[in-house]
Amino acid sequence: DSKHLYTVIVLGASGDLAKKKTFPALFGLYKNKYLDQNTHIIGYARTKMDQTTFEGHVSKYIKLKTEADKATLQRFLKLCSYQDGQYDQDKDFQNLEKHIVEVEKASGSTARLFYMALPPSVFIPVATSLKKNNYHSFEKDGILTRLIVEKPFGMDLESSRKLGRELGALFNEDEASYPSTHCLAVIYRIDHYLGKEMVKNLMILRFANVIFGSVWNRQSIDNVQITFKEKIGTEGRGGYFDEFGIIRDVMQNHLLQILSLVAMEPPVSLSAEDVRDEKGLSNIVNSSSSPTYQVKVLRFIPPIVKENILLGQYGKSEDGKEPGYLDDKTVPHGSKTPTYAAATLFIHNDRWSGVPFMLKCGKALDQQKTEIRIQFKDVPGHLFTGLSRNEIVIRVQPNEAVYVKMMNKEPGLGMKTIISDLDLSYSSRFNDSVIPEAYESLILDALNGDHSNFVRDDELDAAWKIFTPILKTIDHGEIDPIPYAYGSRGPKGVGEFVAKHGYTRGEQA
Ligand code: BG6
Repeated sequence: DSKHLYTVIVLGASGDLAKKKTFPALFGLYKNKYLDQNTHIIGYARTKMDQTTFEGHVSKYIKLKTEADKATLQRFLKLCSYQDGQYDQDKDFQNLEKHIVEVEKASGSTARLFYMALPPSVFIPVATSLKKNNYHSFEKDGILTRLIVEKPFGMDLESSRKLGRELGALFNEDEASYPSTHCLAVIYRIDHYLGKEMVKNLMILRFANVIFGSVWNRQSIDNVQITFKEKIGTEGRGGYFDEFGIIRDVMQNHLLQILSLVAMEPPVSLSAEDVRDEKGLSNIVNSSSSPTYQVKVLRFIPPIVKENILLGQYGKSEDGKEPGYLDDKTVPHGSKTPTYAAATLFIHNDRWSGVPFMLKCGKALDQQKTEIRIQFKDVPGHLFTGLSRNEIVIRVQPNEAVYVKMMNKEPGLGMKTIISDLDLSYSSRFNDSVIPEAYESLILDALNGDHSNFVRDDELDAAWKIFTPILKTIDHGEIDPIPYAYGSRGPKGVGEFVAKHGYTRGEQA
């Protein structure tokens, strides 16, 4: 809400997420004047740190492009302060409250954004302490509160529901029951892929273009692949990662969110609730939401079966220089946790029945890339030979682009066909620097009270239903991950896996 001046409180301020994503995003918003120039930021965590150390911590991952940026950073740091405290001690949260009140008095701020960049184990204790010590009712005290929470949202359907119930008992996420001018919805579940430029572009590509809309279905599309590749391994995060694995870390959230935007029906409007209804409303309702029983895209997806999954785990690089997953000291000996997964999902509705959606993700691979590849069916008839299938590729990162693979006449005499690209590369068409970081876009949405790009509780429930049975099978050690070398293209068999589900490279059948 632009009329509110916020104080932003980052809980878990000494952690990786805060350092790498939250503070740089807040700085980006400040620098581009999306954040009121008088917005104070308070960091809170267990680590003891003085102001100078904290400033070093905040600045570490902030990229400064110009001299002016350096000066802006100095001004920004003056707005940042730190307080240490435990996550389960009321007295520490009371101290935090004093700190916030001081800041509010000095700045005139009337709204609080709590950003929970915390390990899952302290999630509920912190939310409970916040509610008790740092939450004020808007009606009584005129202070608006919003809370951004980060995954992991549980380990499976049961734990996610439990977390939802516990959080729902403390804070609200339902916008509809409040007057829109002072929307008091406080929980914003972040999935930062929903803030990425090309993910946000999906709605426009699909629903603002006649040429894509009419072919976006099983009659024309043969298969869809959504791929996430990272070059880095679990460096330093082995302990966390081993508990969750790549499916919970990336596939069940980031890739499934992309899938729902690729596959959903057009929403009634662009309002947060209409969009999220289309993505995944299920009929589980937590204490705070009001029920609507619509049948939407995620609910058409049955749980993944064992035959449609392939797992991998990285070992040392071929030259032996990069460590394997099991070499990480924080990873338990002999762990079978997957660092690579490919899964095929089907959407049993009129639009998509029979079309495989292949989700693939992995760490320690040959390149960093996230893309959506929509492959069309063969051209009927035999007028031409040597044709390749049409594809629409949406490259989410790096080098954002949309390109269409299509057949063209090879210029010259004769009538030879050649596969070519109709290429919208952002670096040549738009100014790259205007592409905001995902976290900037989402933090701004939360400040403005816009829930559209955040995950609703029932959407989360629908997502867990798809993945929980297969995750249990994996957790019981019933699927052995296939080893692959650090820096390689992934485990053997991925090519066969995508071919089995219809992906064709090169000439049509
Ligand atoms: C996070 C995962 O949610 O997303 C990480 O926990 C992963 O393991 C990261 O590296 C990828 O995000 P991005 O924006 O760098 O693609």
